Amino acid sequence: MTDARRILQRLRDREALSPAEIAWFADGLANGAVSDAQAGAFAMAVCLNGLGEAGRVALTCAMRDSGQVLRWDLPGPVIDKHSTGGIGDAASLLIAPALAACGAFVPMIAGRGLGHTGGTLDKLEAIPGLRTGIGPDRLRAIVADVGCAIVGATDDIAPADKRLYAVRDVTGAVESIDLITASILSKKLAAGLGGLVLDVKAGSGAFMRDRAGAQALARALVDTANGAGCPTVALITDMDQPLATAAGNALEVCEVMETLTCTSVSPRLWDLSCALGGEALALAGLAADPDEGGARIAAALRSGRAAEVFGRMVAALGGPADFVERWPDRLPAAPEVRVVPAPFEGFVTAIDGRALGMAVVDLGGGRRRGDDRVDPSVGLADLALIGDHVAPDLPLCVVHAADAAAADRAVAAVQAAYVLGESAGAEPPLILDRIAG
Ligand code: URA
Repeated sequence: MTDARRILQRLRDREALSPAEIAWFADGLANGAVSDAQAGAFAMAVCLNGLGEAGRVALTCAMRDSGQVLRWDLPGPVIDKHSTGGIGDAASLLIAPALAACGAFVPMIAGRGLGHTGGTLDKLEAIPGLRTGIGPDRLRAIVADVGCAIVGATDDIAPADKRLYAVRDVTGAVESIDLITASILSKKLAAGLGGLVLDVKAGSGAFMRDRAGAQALARALVDTANGAGCPTVALITDMDQPLATAAGNALEVCEVMETLTCTSVSPRLWDLSCALGGEALALAGLAADPDEGGARIAAALRSGRAAEVFGRMVAALGGPADFVERWPDRLPAAPEVRVVPAPFEGFVTAIDGRALGMAVVDLGGGRRRGDDRVDPSVGLADLALIGDHVAPDLPLCVVHAADAAAADRAVAAVQAAYVLGESAGAEPPLILDRIAG
């Protein structure tokens, strides 16, 4: 008889698991037959020993099948985008409504903060009243009506990932090609997509720190998704620095709203949204190629159509009906705001993205334990990026904290995360590679 202990022993001893054993474990994650301790041991054993290619595909399919697999009958293609995780990257909040404004339907099943990285669901839930834990019927209704919905894995959709994701977050068991592939694709394949674009991050703020690791992850994701019948393309993008200038849930929503309403456009957030959105529109046949797709995404952002879709999605998920007009009054603000001076004058030559991400977690913007409550108001704003000129009166960033002691710790962590030099050097490219099936 299959049981969790036997499966864990086999994983420990580097024996290949059968698809039936993997399916048993995924079901056990979903139905509670597997305990938290066993889930943690499984995640760590996979991190250390791997599952092999066949095991990775089997885990992905089993986690997809741990809940419902959605089917759609809509007057347009059903597509999505997902990132492997980074710092200051709220592009999903722009891309989902922009794709919907271009005629696609986007049931985006997203994740919470994982390790040092921010999570789309935590960012969206910084909006008062908004809840992302909705069931499949409500998801279908919002996608059909609004064009997009950003929601979490539930007891009905990819429940095995809902459980394993939370366990990995607090057990240091994130950096595994097998686990990342199964986590992302179980949700995406359960959403019944006709096409998927992946943003695979490479750099100091990513789970894959070097380009070769990111390429291997992108290849595993693209091959597994295409093999499961979902046409998929991946862009490998720079995460040697935050994508934009805010890291922290409500602060990132502020930056998204400024860009979405074109009041103050964040250039890297805009460019990445157009590149990934353009790929998705081309994959769906809504644009002749990714360049034309990117231009359509830019037009949807510039015209306010994407902002209008975003506002309707926020209201449908329980947020304020006037969020697009009144967002500065609606988002929570932290009581302690502290400017972080550069220790001396110079140019930013490198940033330890992981350290910045952990500074946000330590401020309370992420979780150290599974039951931690995330404080949506805290984080880092106005972050200097690579090439920026800084000085004691040209700060590295502004810390938003719950109290003075947390602010002090964050100031020291941020100062330690920046490397300054005498000259600016070349701006690093945003898009590093493209991996297709
Ligand atoms: N996003 C996910 O959904 N899962 C991961 O493991 C990493 C990023």
